[in-house]
Amino acid sequence: MQDSSRYAVGIDIGTTTVRCVVGHLDATTGTPTIVGVGEVINTGMRKGNVVNLNGPAQAIDDALGEAERMSGYEVNSATISINGSHILSTSTDGMVAVSAADHLVDHEDVVRLEEVATVGKVPANREILEVVPHSYRLDGQDNIKDPVGMTGTRLEINANVISAMVPQVGALHSTLDLAKVTPNGIIPSVVAAAKAVLSEQQLENGVAVIDMGGATTSIAVFEEGDLQYAAVIPVGSNNITNDLAIGLKTDPEVAEQVKLHHGSATPLTGSDKVSVKHAGETTEFDRDDINEIIEARLEEMFEAIGKELKKAGKHAKLPSGVVLTGGGAKLKHMVDYTKQTLGVAARVGGATGFGGVAEHIDEPQFATAAGLMLLDAQSDHHQNGGHKSGRGKSTANQAGGMLKRLLGRFKA
Ligand SMILES: Nc1ncnc2c1ncn2[C@@H]1O[C@H](COP(=O)(O)OP(=O)(O)OP(=O)(O)O)[C@@H](O)[C@H]1O
Ligand SMILES: [Mg+2]
Repeated sequence: MQDSSRYAVGIDIGTTTVRCVVGHLDATTGTPTIVGVGEVINTGMRKGNVVNLNGPAQAIDDALGEAERMSGYEVNSATISINGSHILSTSTDGMVAVSAADHLVDHEDVVRLEEVATVGKVPANREILEVVPHSYRLDGQDNIKDPVGMTGTRLEINANVISAMVPQVGALHSTLDLAKVTPNGIIPSVVAAAKAVLSEQQLENGVAVIDMGGATTSIAVFEEGDLQYAAVIPVGSNNITNDLAIGLKTDPEVAEQVKLHHGSATPLTGSDKVSVKHAGETTEFDRDDINEIIEARLEEMFEAIGKELKKAGKHAKLPSGVVLTGGGAKLKHMVDYTKQTLGVAARVGGATGFGGVAEHIDEPQFATAAGLMLLDAQSDHHQNGGHKSGRGKSTANQAGGMLKRLLGRFKA
């Protein structure tokens, strides 16, 4: 029988592609080795959201099939990504009286405090995915990271609550049910990507991850080791393709080839004309037209990114700069463009340092799936000794909030 507690699985349900990563955990250190990878084109998603249950369910099934054949491990449960502009980051605070007669703060006080800080503070029709405690204050003493075991009477919290719209979370659960996968946790895709590409030092210093997907661009800002802000913009690299298709009066398939082979974030120079071969036909385009179309779209996207960074209150104050993930980060000269536009350090991030069948894992489009696998390895589910239910016996509605404090474990 397979020992499921020794495997960790991440499934990134991206708008264009479903990717899954299976890690085998070392018995003593818990370090994962990649033993299975799956990558399948997705359908039935719009702007990060499930709009047709069967499309993503099929893609999940196929991607898991690939990974299962590679690893010989049958996947029953995994940590899953959620995406979409409905994902909301809300700053919140709250206060409770310490309940014990000896005024010793215990875990129950902290749970009660988190409830006080979240109930009624998050807009209606939202499910809380995560509460990220930034700091506690005990009888006026500030900046306490963990108050359990301390003595006092009045306990306060400052936290960030990440929430998602209930219908979108519900659709994701329904898709997972169809694919017979039990979610161990549901994590915003950019937060999972951050887990795979950021170092502890960067998290501490201040850094932003920008996940450039096909249909969305997501931002997560970290400082002092904690997630400070997250947001999803409903525009992605596919918009560049669509603009090229319209502007160059060509098919989206040809426009995609133009983007991949002749597209650049900063204008490329060279011959005036470029040609693309698709389905046996060669078409010629003006290089200036391509440069202009991409420039206009990126300008719009980065204006929106800049606005989100401003909302996070960290604009131009990111000592460790920004790390780009997602397939869109592979556009030529994206790093240079990001540096120029945002005025901070930038690099493309990928999950590195894994042994095993990890060939493409270090590419930016795999960051989310790799991060989800790492988070799965740290989930309560693994901490408590493994899976109970098999594929086909999944139960919905158990993921939201299950990975409480998981983000805190970035520091682990
Ligand atoms: N070499 C490349 N140059 C430019 N763009 C690229 C390159 N490779 C992939 N892309 C683009 O990356 C996008 C897909 O990225 P990714 O796989 O990260 O998206 P996704 O996770 O499916 O979508 P989302 O995160 O928005 O739900 C596509 O628009 C694709 O054209
Ligand atoms: Mg994605």
